[in-house]
Amino acid sequence: MTSLYVADDVVTLAKQILGSDTTGHDFYHVARVARNAVRLYREDFPLASPSTLQLIATMGYLHDVVDEKVTATPTTRWHQIMALPTVCRFTPEDQEILRTTITHMSYAANLEHHFELPVPGQYVQDADRLDALGAIGIARAFAYGGAHHHSIYDPTIPVVMSSNRETYRHHEETSINHFYEKLLHLEATMNTTAGKKLAHTRTAYMRAFLDEFMHEWNE
Ligand code: ADP
Ligand code: NI
Repeated sequence: MTSLYVADDVVTLAKQILGSDTTGHDFYHVARVARNAVRLYREDFPLASPSTLQLIATMGYLHDVVDEKVTATPTTRWHQIMALPTVCRFTPEDQEILRTTITHMSYAANLEHHFELPVPGQYVQDADRLDALGAIGIARAFAYGGAHHHSIYDPTIPVVMSSNRETYRHHEETSINHFYEKLLHLEATMNTTAGKKLAHTRTAYMRAFLDEFMHEWNE
């Protein structure tokens, strides 16, 4: 399932750091993000150059390697990324796109103010958000919740809408609440037309899941 446009050194680092993750940020997540980001970009730019597609695929594979949820040593991870032969061969402009995109693409990084990503980065961000939606998004939310010792659902814990990173990361949480606090709102944050359309379908699927969940809970 590795993307046609990604080099072995990039895949090897992603596998090494994310291979054993069980919080929903595993190697197959980044492989899907790379593949979907390339697919969405090619829909909008059929004549895209191989170097742009390689940049997009590379950012897809590496976007979670430095994430605070996945590593306790982001600085070391950045050094590893910038030392990859593939990344060293990028133009300085592409290296800057990679650095800006990976630093600013997360949901938490955009809570206080919206950061406008470079265009290739917008496709990676959309692909990442799409992977938090639909059937895979549902599975990932419960995997993340389980790994962080959150309950599936608890009607005594209220939904909290966070406007900053601290509250977002550190309030009392259930996996079902996360749908109302974040996942159902992702559709409105998509950058690209193709991304918006897919997000709409996947969000509808999640709403149907939540309706059924609540129906069974109250039965
Ligand atoms: P980003 O993808 O922008 O870095 P997150 O790290 O918050 O944002 O989320 C990535 C994935 O982790 C998503 O699939 C999301 O559902 C899951 N996730 C994050 N926080 C929670 C949470 N509190 N409960 C359940 N799932 C979560
Ligand atoms: Ni991700």
